[in-house]
Amino acid sequence: MLTRRQFIRLAMTTTAALQLSDMLIPHLAEAFTGKKKPPVIWLEMMTCTGDYLSTANTLHPNMRQLLFDTIDLYYSNTTMAAEGEMAIRALLETAEREKGEFILIAEGTVPLKNNGQYGAIGYHPDGRLFTDIEAIRFLAPKAKYIMAVGTCASFGGPYAARPNPSGSVAVHKVVDQQVVNVPGCPVHPDWAIGTLTHLLLYGVPNLDAFNRPTVFFGKRIHDWCPRRQHFDNGIFAEQPGEEKCTYKIGCKGPVTFVDCPTRQWIGDHNSWPVEANSPCIGCVNPDFPDGMSPFYAHLPDMNVSGVRASTDKLGLGVAAFTAGSIATHLLANVATGRLGKHWIDGTRPRTEGIIRDIRKHAGDDKKQ
Ligand code: SF4
Ligand code: F3S
Repeated sequence: MLTRRQFIRLAMTTTAALQLSDMLIPHLAEAFTGKKKPPVIWLEMMTCTGDYLSTANTLHPNMRQLLFDTIDLYYSNTTMAAEGEMAIRALLETAEREKGEFILIAEGTVPLKNNGQYGAIGYHPDGRLFTDIEAIRFLAPKAKYIMAVGTCASFGGPYAARPNPSGSVAVHKVVDQQVVNVPGCPVHPDWAIGTLTHLLLYGVPNLDAFNRPTVFFGKRIHDWCPRRQHFDNGIFAEQPGEEKCTYKIGCKGPVTFVDCPTRQWIGDHNSWPVEANSPCIGCVNPDFPDGMSPFYAHLPDMNVSGVRASTDKLGLGVAAFTAGSIATHLLANVATGRLGKHWIDGTRPRTEGIIRDIRKHAGDDKKQ
């Protein structure tokens, strides 16, 4: 059986990432041979179901292998055949029968406004509305582990964005138990399945300051980006679609910790936002989307002069480290003349240029 250290080493490399789960399947089978398959409840609250659908794109293992050979998914309102009263009964019975044994995968935010009536999973047998807040608080104390999948469940994400009319919050805000956050908008199948695998085989993985597994969220995008040479040489895209560094058009790679450049998307790992000539919009960050908007404009708080603002916004030590290291790196490049005027240009917000281009195209259209 793989040791924990071997598991982490495997996941840290691209080649291993491609075959990670293939290699783990025999060990998973070995670990659970003759034993009951681990029970799992996938609770969808206020969500677009993007995290479930993204996870369903896992190829190694594929969904069939996962559902038939690895886990017992007792409740998932997207997958299960039962609905209505039958589905709710399955949820209640599983929670009691598998108490202390099941893994709770929570997707989506928990709306709190008006007694949580903005989000419900169905009705109780007695006809009362079964709200999301009631469901998560009922399940959390009975679960062995709680995993929040997607940025909504982990940090609030789009459903908790301003003006947040439903009063939505992240899962960890409403339960007392430890929550392992696996963000992403949506979550990458490997981050979800990899974390689940770690929980099944070894328990809670090493976590960062935001309770994210460091095996996936420990590296800064900017440090592994294939466009980094362009950044260092001041070769910046002026608009999405150009095969250059996307820093000037809003790339959040310098403040985003996750392995997108090496892992790539999705089940078959063949591209990622920057490779598609679009900036990273920082979808795994705790203050996504409000703090990462506008997506296609350079944010002042990512400039050297904005180090303090960025640190304030992201709060924890990891941000201070990020901001400090960007500043050091950039100042070194300015000092050696590698960035020069490109750096000055690169720190200007680009929205004016984008609006000008849109107007230009609109004008061109009229002439035709
Ligand atoms: Fe890559 Fe973005 Fe950094 Fe440019 S700013 S090197 S595109 S991560
Ligand atoms: Fe999200 Fe940026 Fe990766 S937008 S998918 S963290 S490249």
